Amino acid sequence: MISTDTEWVGYAARLVATLTDSGDLHDPAWAAAIANTPRHLLVPTAYQQQHDGSWAEVGTNGPGLELVYSLATLVTKVDAAGCATSSSTKPDLMVRMLEVLDVHDGHRVLEIGTGTGYNAALLCHRLGAGNVFSLDVDAGLVAAARDRLAAMGRHPQLAARDGIDGWPHHAPYHRIIATCSVPRVPWAWAQQLTLGGTLLADVKFGPDAGNLVLLHRHHDRLEGRFTRRWAAFMTMRHDNDTTLGWRPKAGTSHQRITTVPAQPWNTDRVVWLLACLALPAPLLHGYLLDPVIRTPTAATLSVPDGSWCEIDLTTTDNGSQQVREGGPTPLWVHVEQAYHYWHHCDQPTWERFGLTVTSDTQTVWLDHPRNVLHRSDHP
Ligand SMILES: C[S@@+](CC[C@H](N)C(=O)[O-])C[C@H]1O[C@@H](n2cnc3c(N)ncnc32)[C@H](O)[C@@H]1O
Repeated sequence: MISTDTEWVGYAARLVATLTDSGDLHDPAWAAAIANTPRHLLVPTAYQQQHDGSWAEVGTNGPGLELVYSLATLVTKVDAAGCATSSSTKPDLMVRMLEVLDVHDGHRVLEIGTGTGYNAALLCHRLGAGNVFSLDVDAGLVAAARDRLAAMGRHPQLAARDGIDGWPHHAPYHRIIATCSVPRVPWAWAQQLTLGGTLLADVKFGPDAGNLVLLHRHHDRLEGRFTRRWAAFMTMRHDNDTTLGWRPKAGTSHQRITTVPAQPWNTDRVVWLLACLALPAPLLHGYLLDPVIRTPTAATLSVPDGSWCEIDLTTTDNGSQQVREGGPTPLWVHVEQAYHYWHHCDQPTWERFGLTVTSDTQTVWLDHPRNVLHRSDHP
């Protein structure tokens, strides 16, 4: 069944109602943008992962309208290794970010990570296409987004370029929004923001370790706090990236027990941030599978010097788990220390953490910029 040209309007209106009811959407201007933007034209197909790990492509017209106007993240590009390299962000997260960004008429906005162009389309509706600038490292995505946006009469400035450098040609911007995650906020972004301007980005210090942070431009720095709810974007990639594989284990194995939850990256996300600020980078985490039933039996961490640990996912009667580790650098102890520090500080939530970025450093702090937890120098 092919939908009529207007069938999507009812679905878009329902999406607005869903987002309003869930408490994610408050601003009538964004409600109008969502109601008037045919997401299915920007996301004509999406990939859904199958039980065996492969991806199946599904259309979003006709019966697919239900999916494309739902709250789902829609994977829109998958590389040869089966990793998702682009997606249309789930609308509840997208609208929360747009509201946090606090745009006003006449604002010029730079988006890092065009993807399907859906977010750019919403920005065009709200601010006018002349104020919207968006770039993506994938030239094919930019070309497709440009054509599809033009077909609906929206003509933002788009470019295929690495977002790490921003887009100085059109600077300054009043707002910058990054829809891919970065380990460090590039100073180039600060230089392209107006004084008093705002930047919203997902900063991750390890796998899923970090959150969206809202930063304000001061003369000499960007500064602000992490946002209340946790979110994760795909990591920004660059042409010169090298693939990270599983690392061979170094050293002999030692066994001990721990009472800290085995998977803080899924459950205690603030603890996991604190742990990753101390753990060596780049860190890989994964799982060991039961060879017969193929379900995870232990979580794993490993770092470049070969140090590793495995944490059993089953707990004993007294709530502890077995940990095996080896190599020159103890790893799990950082997670345990993070857990105890977090309790010691009254279990701080995301908004108590902040970030300051200057031309040469990035610091993470708790409660106040002077209470620095971690400092890294820009390379
Ligand atoms: C979650 S998707 C963006 C979703 C998009 N805003 C939308 O509305 O569909 C993340 C995007 O970031 C892009 N990306 C990854 N690394 C990048 C880089 N270095 N510079 C610019 N874009 C990048 C990916 O190609 C991908 O399209």
